[in-house]
Amino acid sequence: MSETSSRARELDAADELAAVRAKFVLDSVVYLDGNSLGALPAAVPGRMEDVVRRQWGSLRIRSWEESGWWTAPERIGDRIAPLVGAAPGQIVVGDSTSVNVFKALVAAVRLAAEGGPGRDEILVDATTFPTDGYIAGSAARMTGCTLRPVTPAEVPGVLTGRTAAVLLNHVDYRTGRLHDLPGLTAAVHAAGAVAVWDLCHSAGALPVGLDEHGVDLAVGCTYKYLNGGPGAPAYLYVRRDLQDRFDSPLPGWNSHAEPFGMRTEYTPATGAPRGRVGTPDILSMLALEAALEVWDGISIDAVRAKSLALTDFFLECVAAHVPEGAVESLSPKAHAERGSQVALRCPDAGDVMKRLIENGVVGDFRPPDVLRFGFTPLYVGFADVERAARVLAETLA
Ligand SMILES: Cc1ncc(COP(=O)(O)O)c(C=O)c1O
Repeated sequence: MSETSSRARELDAADELAAVRAKFVLDSVVYLDGNSLGALPAAVPGRMEDVVRRQWGSLRIRSWEESGWWTAPERIGDRIAPLVGAAPGQIVVGDSTSVNVFKALVAAVRLAAEGGPGRDEILVDATTFPTDGYIAGSAARMTGCTLRPVTPAEVPGVLTGRTAAVLLNHVDYRTGRLHDLPGLTAAVHAAGAVAVWDLCHSAGALPVGLDEHGVDLAVGCTYKYLNGGPGAPAYLYVRRDLQDRFDSPLPGWNSHAEPFGMRTEYTPATGAPRGRVGTPDILSMLALEAALEVWDGISIDAVRAKSLALTDFFLECVAAHVPEGAVESLSPKAHAERGSQVALRCPDAGDVMKRLIENGVVGDFRPPDVLRFGFTPLYVGFADVERAARVLAETLA
């Protein structure tokens, strides 16, 4: 047995999260794409059977009350809250991340404007997942702001009295770089601006500390490390003391103080429901609710510790098995700067990933030359990691 495989055995034997894998539907494939689509939690199919057949099929409209459909967006928001360091009552689930970026960013500019005139610039992460940049461009046009793309590291140096809002990613989708959420949020606040964080690649993989770090607004998806399923609804966090001033650009009837009052005038709801828009996507939302049960009794600190151990071990196995110079890691070496993925650059990365998938190792390819491997600590083990590095070495050879 090679040194890396015996190390994998030891690490798996000492893994306090190893048993959680049994709560997922998995097979012999090494699944390193949970940063794109999380695996299926075993409790979901049975719950969906009940939701569809009994709640929808038998109870029909009564389920809005009797099955708790109406209150699901905030109830499920409260289940996500501890995973991102938020006290209850500040997160609402619904819509896509893109839509929530729009709500949060326009509301952020409106909040900043309350401090006086002249706040007419939005800073956006220049390396962001494209949707955030597109939405920020439209939000800027709508609010009369100019949009300035900058890297997160440049943000402190370009904040001025004109900055209204700053939209940042906690973890970069391509490189897996973890940005300094506490430091950048403090810098944005010192400039009198409002910080909006996209947590898509961090929630469920590492501690976020939204309340602790005074984040204003945050959004995230639930289909990656939260395993909510394809197209599962996203969420919006509005810090409690900002909720009464949150002025949504999409004030649908579900966010009305009295949705069934059917009034012509709009009066916003108080609290997290103010972030709602229209009728919630109940089927996806209740699949997500069942999926979140895998988190019962799990500490996000333990998840982070395993995530770092997995990515360290992957890099170690790649160094041991892949010929030097065949791949280049884009992911930071320092733990403080690393999310839960490793991005490796190599020539013909698209073809390489195709062959990896054919050989039972699923990651993904991001143009032009990046192999992305996501490590979901709830179901990825150290032997998986070792096998992935070996198959990568064989593929490249
Ligand atoms: C950082 C980030 N933001 C947003 C999205 C996608 O947004 P939506 O849920 O609207 O598809 C992704 C998808 O991978 C993402 O990585």
